[in-house]
Amino acid sequence: MRAEMMSEMRVAPSILSADFARLGDQVATVMDAGARVIHVDVMDGHFVPPITIGPLIVNALAGQVHGAGGVLDVHLMIERPERHVQAFADAGADAITVHLEATAHVNFALNAVKEAGCRAGLALNPGTPAVAVTEVADLVDHVLCMTVNPGWGGQSFIESSIDKLTRLRGLLPASCTIEVDGGVDTETAPRCADAGATLFVAGSHVFGAPDPAQRYQALAASIGSI
Ligand code: DX5
Ligand code: ZN
Repeated sequence: MRAEMMSEMRVAPSILSADFARLGDQVATVMDAGARVIHVDVMDGHFVPPITIGPLIVNALAGQVHGAGGVLDVHLMIERPERHVQAFADAGADAITVHLEATAHVNFALNAVKEAGCRAGLALNPGTPAVAVTEVADLVDHVLCMTVNPGWGGQSFIESSIDKLTRLRGLLPASCTIEVDGGVDTETAPRCADAGATLFVAGSHVFGAPDPAQRYQALAASIGSI
């Protein structure tokens, strides 16, 4: 299954920092450079202040990404995510990540993701303790550890995240992937890898540069990925 790629040591470019006027070209650039996990940041103006994109854009990219052998990794920064899981699954999401802080019904939300046929991810804000994952650890395929506060690209990596990653790795079964998101670059990614992360979301470091392909490849090389 394609989504197994989410378990490998990989960089996942985040389209949040891409040029939306030529989104398909930007995705093609990083996929030609080797990317196979494309990270999509969905924001609702409530859970986080900005509003970004929804299922329409996931659907618009699905044919291209799947056709090139990739997967769509959808990060929902929205309140009550369980209400929108099916729409994102129908649009072509391969993995759907919900925030623990965004719903009182996180067990229900994660089950909804799995029932929709997607890999289920649980995201934690920087202020949420690692131990919070334990009650749903058996339901999650990956834990997304926010290494900045959610809502914006281009922020600085929060240093205390390294110790948190070590705690998460100790709490989670080996089958559960740890994804890091925020401030990931060639300096922070290897340190996150040493602490147990294997999936590295990068927005501004890749798309904020004149040559996203070169940035993608350098970042992948920094963690020993392809
Ligand atoms: C932030 C998003 C990130 C964002 C990361 O809320 O979840 O995925 O794109 O951006 P950078 O890599 O610029 O920190
Ligand atoms: Zn994200």
